[in-house]
Amino acid sequence: MTTQHFLRDDDLTPVELNEVLDLAAELKAAPYSHKPLAGPQTVAIIFDKPTLRTQASFVAGIAELGGNPMVVDGTLAQIGTRESIADVARVLGRQSSLIVWRTHDQSRIEEMAAYAGVPVVNALTDQFHPCQTLADLLTVREHKGATAGLTMTFLGDAACNMGHSYLLSGAAAGMHVRVSGPDGFQPDSGILARAQEIAAGTGGSAEIVLDPTKAADGADVLVTDTWVSMGKEAESADRAEVFRPWQLNEDLLALGADDAIVLHCLPAYRGKEITAEVLDGPQSVIWDEAENRRHAQKAIITWLLR
Ligand code: NVA
Repeated sequence: MTTQHFLRDDDLTPVELNEVLDLAAELKAAPYSHKPLAGPQTVAIIFDKPTLRTQASFVAGIAELGGNPMVVDGTLAQIGTRESIADVARVLGRQSSLIVWRTHDQSRIEEMAAYAGVPVVNALTDQFHPCQTLADLLTVREHKGATAGLTMTFLGDAACNMGHSYLLSGAAAGMHVRVSGPDGFQPDSGILARAQEIAAGTGGSAEIVLDPTKAADGADVLVTDTWVSMGKEAESADRAEVFRPWQLNEDLLALGADDAIVLHCLPAYRGKEITAEVLDGPQSVIWDEAENRRHAQKAIITWLLR
């Protein structure tokens, strides 16, 4: 049997996504009910970029699954520079049952997966953040009962990992996904087309809506993300100007459904992509969302090792 990986959201079919979300809910209700890593088996977790939630939730979650989390500092390992990605994959694949990696270009994690011999999970690349969207869909389910038929609007840098991952995962969940960002910050056209293809099979939809007020209109779920993704820090000042109309503030929130919920993958910059009033307000479910990283990631690990 070929090794399965979770490198981008559409590595799960809509049916599989549903299974993983069911399992996440089960694991949230009974955190110690599944021990696929009993032994303990080791999971390597590598970071080439900063982290807080991802490290904390993977370490805690892997321990809850009976395993041994082994955090590898990518700045020390210098994967692809000190030695090739393929060699690192072969070595870590002999020391662990699964590899989790936060890195730069998607091609790097694809190469890791090709040589590791164990499942590889994407803990964020420049193009996708599928563990985050699993947690987000779990959060939507909890607060809305289901995902299908709901409108989810992403405001901000639609060209970044989160924009792409919402398109693919939201479409798979049967949602109507709108992404809205300034000129020059639109999603990859191939990923948009892929999301539309998925949506055609689930009854959802995926579209770019340039005007943030139109994008927010009637939305059930309003989402944003930092305007300055990791690695783009040099563009900070320019982006702050360009992105201003996409700020998730009380005016945009008021355009959404009365019972709309607000998501943010964090870290958040109050006064930039989201106001403190919205982030800390009654419609925000971001702390549930942050907690759900652990449950969702335990589910995908359990599912990949089944
Ligand atoms: N788009 C952000 C997500 C952070 C979790 C980044 O890549 O920095």
